[in-house]
Amino acid sequence: MLAGSNAICVLNLKNKEIGVCRDGSPVAIGLATNEFFIGSDVTAFLPYTRSVVFLEDGQGAIINKIGCKMFSLSTKKALALKSTVVDWKAEAAQKDGYPHYLLKEIMEQLVTIPKTAHLNKSEIKKAAEMIKNSKKIVLTGCGTASFCALAAKYLFAQQGVATEMCGAYESAPTLEFASTDTVVIAISQSGETADTLLAIKRAQKKGAKIIAVINARGSTLERIADVSLMVGSGPEIAVVSTKAFTAQLATLYRLAGLSSAVPHDVAPIISKAGSTLKEWLNKKHLKKIARLAAELHNQEHLYVLGKDLQYPAAMECALKVKEASYIHGEAFSSGELKHGVIALVDTRTPCIVLGAKDAYENEVRASAAEVKARGGYIIGIAPFEAPEFDITIKTPNLGPLTILANVIVGQLLGYYCAIGRGADPDKPRNLAKSVTVK
Ligand code: M6R
Repeated sequence: MLAGSNAICVLNLKNKEIGVCRDGSPVAIGLATNEFFIGSDVTAFLPYTRSVVFLEDGQGAIINKIGCKMFSLSTKKALALKSTVVDWKAEAAQKDGYPHYLLKEIMEQLVTIPKTAHLNKSEIKKAAEMIKNSKKIVLTGCGTASFCALAAKYLFAQQGVATEMCGAYESAPTLEFASTDTVVIAISQSGETADTLLAIKRAQKKGAKIIAVINARGSTLERIADVSLMVGSGPEIAVVSTKAFTAQLATLYRLAGLSSAVPHDVAPIISKAGSTLKEWLNKKHLKKIARLAAELHNQEHLYVLGKDLQYPAAMECALKVKEASYIHGEAFSSGELKHGVIALVDTRTPCIVLGAKDAYENEVRASAAEVKARGGYIIGIAPFEAPEFDITIKTPNLGPLTILANVIVGQLLGYYCAIGRGADPDKPRNLAKSVTVK
């Protein structure tokens, strides 16, 4: 009787049964010895069981003392209970000695980024073939996943592969023109984001093929995509997304390499970047970033500038600061500065400038100089020092993957600013981990 995405779970006290059904919103049923768990996500019951049944739309289940029975909501006919064992460990959903999930998940990237070099070998090849055989490639996602999509657009372009990017929530004018020659690359941590699912369903109706880049296991997106690249970061509990972004981008970097005219796997580059990041992100750097956050956390606004790959990086850093600490962080392409943004710069306005050792280094430094000349306080996050920077957080030069290091600094700034302002970094106000409804 209900219209719209929903999942319902009802306890019948009289006969001591629980009924659960799904129409659009996720339902996972955990199976343990003499115990059952129902959640919208596996992480809700991961400490108790890894054996899971994922309901599909139009399916229901009845759980009572005898067991769990699945059935079709329309025909009422019994369905086989097909369980899968998720490869996430219970400890992965705990804080592991860290004060917050957010900090734990940021630090986990030292493992989850290089891990992507060993995953998805055959799936990436298959996805690359799909890309080569297509005429139009569209990258999409929401929030952090949309910034990952934008960053991937630059990585594909570097490999000579033209793509389009759109936020899934504004995909209509792009996907309206999807056809059997289109491949949509949908990026999502949860695989349950309503706008992303709607966008790919729209594209599928036009005949497009779907490549999904997902973190969470057993999601709707995984089930409906033609090829799924599972990025293997483990459960992301903090509402603010971190390790999913970097693992998705590293995976897309591999896909871009294998989709180029001269296909090559950049897995060794990712592994090497992982080792460099491990050496770089030591206590000394963490302390420096925490000290910088202490200088910034009383600010109401800050701006983040970047160019090329550092532009989506700027967007992602601004979002981390916004979500975690409620400081208004706004990202701009440094090329946009003179077209209006510079009017915002005032004495001591904090302005984060993201740089990389690339063709745009001097252009970005020139933008920093423009802001500094108007009294702005310039925080350089880059693999180089520059006289334009008032303070520098030096990141390693990882070539195109410098974006990963620069974003990690933005994530940490968001975390430490949240702590300084007394905000809960794991559960920002008004936000849900996955936005499963429109
Ligand atoms: O699960 P998804 O990756 O599809 O989620 C998309 C966005 O809702 C998500 O990235 C959101 O923007 C996070 N709060 C970012 O930290």
